[in-house]
Amino acid sequence: MQKKDRYNVAVVGATGAVGTEMLSILETRGFPVATIRTLASPRSVGKSCSFCGRDWPVDELNESSFSGIDIALFSAGAERSRTFAPVAVKSGAVVVDNSSAFRMDPKIPLVVPEVNAPAIARHKGIIANPNCSTIQLVVALKPIHDVARIKRIVVTTFQAVSGTGQKAMDELLNQTRALLNFRDVVNEVYPHQIAFNCLPHIDTFLSNGYSKEEMKMVNETRKILEDETIGITATAVRVPVFRGHSEAINVETEKKITADQARELLAYAEGVCVLDHPAENVYPLAIDAAGKDETFVGRIREDESVENGLNLWIVSDNLRKGAALNAVQIAEKLIRG
Ligand SMILES: NC(=O)c1ccc[n+]([C@@H]2O[C@H](COP(=O)([O-])OP(=O)(O)OC[C@H]3O[C@@H](n4cnc5c(N)ncnc54)[C@H](OP(=O)(O)O)[C@@H]3O)[C@@H](O)[C@H]2O)c1
Repeated sequence: MQKKDRYNVAVVGATGAVGTEMLSILETRGFPVATIRTLASPRSVGKSCSFCGRDWPVDELNESSFSGIDIALFSAGAERSRTFAPVAVKSGAVVVDNSSAFRMDPKIPLVVPEVNAPAIARHKGIIANPNCSTIQLVVALKPIHDVARIKRIVVTTFQAVSGTGQKAMDELLNQTRALLNFRDVVNEVYPHQIAFNCLPHIDTFLSNGYSKEEMKMVNETRKILEDETIGITATAVRVPVFRGHSEAINVETEKKITADQARELLAYAEGVCVLDHPAENVYPLAIDAAGKDETFVGRIREDESVENGLNLWIVSDNLRKGAALNAVQIAEKLIRG
């Protein structure tokens, strides 16, 4: 990408949960922005988004949205990405796409900068951002994979409602309020009540009995770690948490790695923060991870049921590292070359 002092940036889906976070992260990390274009659906025309102390009017996403744009951060759903990412590329922009539209396309790099930043160089205009639950998983597991080679991963997720977007956050709030006031709840976003409940159902179910979210974790993890031989099985659960996904992970490795070795390895890993003093009630919590950039790892212990196994508890802010921050970090790598 052509080097410039400042770049024209478009945020597609700027009014959404991830888009709002993207604007805030571009600002706080001092991304060299010349102009910002905030794009959303026709519903948002007339609204504005705040960026660097100014209100920017929201424009409707259309075929002419990308003229003069250098970098387009997409976060408006797979359908919009499929239609408009090629339009942005044709206009000369590089697209970092948060949706699932291009993630498994073998020609399109799927990137978590701490794990596989060199893949960015292979882009032909589009770089895909992985699914939120995959990002935190690979940030924490890559250092272990590098020294001990992971053979199998068993993951169970506890995913916040913000992973479904703004409407789901409103639904959890409204249902909680209704139940505490002895009123009936309305289920619009999820098929069942989410307040005071856990739903073993994220995205649609596939013919193999897994949900799409579960299979995204399987396929994306293999692509990012560039290892098709890793066995992965996932159970994805939506929990009544606003922000921050938690994951219980069991890994089996080829070489023995003790809990102490894993703790030390992760203490030095980029993007990871180890919080692991269970005797003092110190372990990662979604409420503490919310608003932070790191992937927090704790409850590191050896799996006593197998020869070479570890259990870990991994928590990260799904809107930041799981989406907006990862996308901005990719854009930072792009402009730094
Ligand atoms: N939330 C997460 O943790 C997370 C993590 C990773 C990836 N993602 C992905 O990021 C994307 C957005 O997620 P979100 O959580 O931010 O959802 P959201 O809060 O529902 O926001 C959706 C955004 O897309 C825009 N949009 C919807 N339909 C559009 C259309 N026809 N034309 C133009 N813009 C349109 C919306 O604009 P209006 O306000 O005008 O409707 C809004 O800005 C999805 O692809 C999602 O899979 C989300």
